[in-house]
Amino acid sequence: MSLPEMSRSMLKNSLLLGLFAVVTVGLVAITQQLTAPRIVAAERAAQTQLLNQLLPAGSFDNLLQDSQVTLAVDPLLGNRSSKNAYIARLSGQPSAVILPVTAADGYSGAIHLLVAIKANGQLAGVRVLKHKETPGLGDKIELAKSAWIHGFDGKSLSDPAESGWAVKKDLGQFDQFAGATITPRAVVKAVHQALRYFDAHQRELLSPGSTAVENSTGRNSNG
Ligand SMILES: Cc1cc2nc3c(=O)[nH]c(=O)nc-3n(C[C@H](O)[C@H](O)[C@H](O)COP(=O)(O)O)c2cc1C
Repeated sequence: MSLPEMSRSMLKNSLLLGLFAVVTVGLVAITQQLTAPRIVAAERAAQTQLLNQLLPAGSFDNLLQDSQVTLAVDPLLGNRSSKNAYIARLSGQPSAVILPVTAADGYSGAIHLLVAIKANGQLAGVRVLKHKETPGLGDKIELAKSAWIHGFDGKSLSDPAESGWAVKKDLGQFDQFAGATITPRAVVKAVHQALRYFDAHQRELLSPGSTAVENSTGRNSNG
């Protein structure tokens, strides 16, 4: 092959390669554009399903995801950054609050929870959003693995009394798991503290126009 022929061939191959790259990048971008709204919709549907599970049917008539307030960082919630709570309403009146809560002292680190509290201070339900506890031991906090988490339903700051808010091994009212006390102990403590948070903030949380809630020390922090 002569030199000009080789140059022509190299140029042709380079152009083909470039064209291929442009087409591939274009296809990926189009696919992403087409699927992004569906992914967002699927995530929203999953979140709605979880939020709706936490409150009894008929106890609210608003869209929970469209009714959020930003909570400042507060030791009682255990979150490291400000997070949103969901306010349930029935005929415009706040009927419950779903608080984002973190138990920092799980066996394998943080356990992220949603704690639903009715306006009367009773727990409507608790669910685990994310955790790293050991399968077969600490993961019984998941509803998919055991009904243990339902043990909080209907409980409140005064029922059981202060001393009852512990696992049975610590002379409280809540079961621990066989060979795994650390995980349920952390969750019981976090739920108890969430009830204390609600007690301290229920006026702001349940006020019709609330948009932000200060922390328990009175400072509004986003740290
Ligand atoms: C590999 C391994 C994984 C464990 N995972 C957990 C766990 O996820 N949650 C838990 O509470 N305990 C777990 N344990 C058991 C704890 O170390 C501890 O013995 C147990 O929670 C009982 O705590 P207590 O002595 O305070 O009652 C695990 C132990 C081992 C050896």
